[in-house]
Amino acid sequence: MGKYILALDQGTTSSRAILFDSEQNILAIRQHELTQHYPHEGWVEQDPMEIWSTQYAAMFEVLAAADISPADVAGIGITNQRETTILWDKMTGRPIHNAIVWQCRRTADIVDGLVESGLSDHIRRTTGLVPDAYFSGTKIKWLLDHVEGAREKAEKGEILFGTVDSWLVWKLTGGRVHITDATNAARTMIFDIHSLDWDDTLLTALDIPRAMLPRVCSSSEIYGYVSLPNGEIPIAGIAGDQQAALFGQTCFNAGDAKNTYGTGCFLLMNTGTTACESENGLLTTIGIRIGDETQYALEGSVFVGGAVIQWLRDEMRFFSESRDAEYYACKVKDTGGVYLVPAFTGLGAPHWDMYARGCLIGLTRGTTREHIIRAAQESIAYQVNDLLTAMKRDTGVALSSLSVDGGASRDSFLMQFQADISNCTIRRPVIRETTALGACYLAGLATGVWSSRDELKELWRCDTLYAPSMEDEKRSRLLNGWDKAVGRSLDWAEH
Ligand code: G3P
Repeated sequence: MGKYILALDQGTTSSRAILFDSEQNILAIRQHELTQHYPHEGWVEQDPMEIWSTQYAAMFEVLAAADISPADVAGIGITNQRETTILWDKMTGRPIHNAIVWQCRRTADIVDGLVESGLSDHIRRTTGLVPDAYFSGTKIKWLLDHVEGAREKAEKGEILFGTVDSWLVWKLTGGRVHITDATNAARTMIFDIHSLDWDDTLLTALDIPRAMLPRVCSSSEIYGYVSLPNGEIPIAGIAGDQQAALFGQTCFNAGDAKNTYGTGCFLLMNTGTTACESENGLLTTIGIRIGDETQYALEGSVFVGGAVIQWLRDEMRFFSESRDAEYYACKVKDTGGVYLVPAFTGLGAPHWDMYARGCLIGLTRGTTREHIIRAAQESIAYQVNDLLTAMKRDTGVALSSLSVDGGASRDSFLMQFQADISNCTIRRPVIRETTALGACYLAGLATGVWSSRDELKELWRCDTLYAPSMEDEKRSRLLNGWDKAVGRSLDWAEH
C-alpha cells in the first residue's frame, strides 16, 4: 500500500493538488487559476471542462514534481467549492451548460416562488438552510428550464446533476461512478439532512427528476478507482471545502469550531450528532459523515472579510500589498473611535439584510489612514464575533477556543484582536492548508493510512496560540460601538 495521499482541492478561483505523506508533510503543491465568467450583472459561471482539465493537470503535475509513482499513492481525497452546479450528458460526458457558481444570483425569483408557496419552513426544517439562490436546487431548475430538451432527458437519467465533487469523481472514474458525499448534498437545498435522502417535496416543487441525482455516500470510503497506466488509485474521501477544513482542523467533537479567513469568512461549529436548529440566522448543515455516524454543524458566513482589505488596497489605494494592512494597523494604538462596517453587499448572519450598506463612522479631524486601516482589520474580527455570539445563543456553548486558517490568519494583529474581542483562544495550526488536509485525512482513514481520529489529533500541530488579554470593560465598550455602527448600516436600508 502506498504511503502518500493526494488531495484535490477544487476551489472557486483555482484547482489545486497537494501531495501529503503519512506524517502530514506536504511534498508538493500545484495549482491552476480558473476563468470566471460574468455573463450578466450578478451572474457567475465557470466552464466545467476547465474545472476538470485544470484539476487533472494539477494532479499529474504534483506527482511529477514530487517524483512519486501513482502506485505509491494510497488514496485521493477531494474537497471542493460547494453548491456550484453542473449538468452533463451521461452518454457524451459533455456539460450541457456552463457551471452555475455558488455566488450566482440568477435564481432569486425561483427562490421567491418557493417562499410564496409557503415552503420556507419546510426548507428550514428539512435541509437546515434558508431559502436562497446560493444553494444548488434552484440552479438545477434554471438549467432544466433553459436548456432545450434537458428535462425530458433528465427524466430518463440521460442528463446527470452533480456538484463539483460529483463531476470530478465521474470524470476520474471514466463515467463509472455517479455519487456525492453527504456534506455536499447538504448544500443543495433538495436534501433531507435528517433522513439523508433527497426530499420529494422539494424535488416536486422544483420539478427535478430523481433519476438525474447522484447517490449520496459518506465522506470517507472508497467510491471508485482512477485508472492510470501503472495502477489504480482509489478515490477515498470527499467533503465540501468548509467541512473539509473543519475536519482538517481536527474539530471532531461537539463544540469544536473553525473559522476560515478568506475573501469572506466561513465559521463552522461541530454540534455532534445533533442537528441544532438556529434561531439566529445560522445554517444547519452536515459536518461530516463517516461510517454510520453523521455529525452536524452550524455555519455562518461573513460576506466581506479579507475583501475589505482588498478594497482599501484597490479602491482607496491605501497600500499596494494586502499584507501591509497589519503594519499600518499597528502604527496606531486604537482606531481613534472609528468603525468601518463593510456591508458592501448587505449583511449576512445574524442580521440577514440584503439592503444594508457599508458605513465609516466616528471620524474626527484627527482621523488618519492608519485609523481607518485598523478599523477595517477590526471589522473582520467583529463580524466573526457576531457569528460566534449567534452560535453561543443557539447552542448555549461559549467557545473557549477557535481554530483558524485561510490567508488572513497569518495576520497576527487580526488574530490577537479576534482573541481579545471574542474572549477566546485562537489556535493557528502549522499546516494552514486545512481544507486539503481534511480531504487527505478522510482518504487516509478510508485506506488505512490512519486508523482513527485520535491518531489524527496526535498529528495536528499548533503553530501559535493567541490568548485573550483585553479587559472586560474595554471589550464591552468596543462591542457596544460596533453594534451602534452596524445599526447605522442597517438603518441605511430605510433611506
Ligand atoms: O460555499 C462556498 C464555498 O464552499 C466556497 O469556498 O474557498 O472556494 O471560495 P471557496
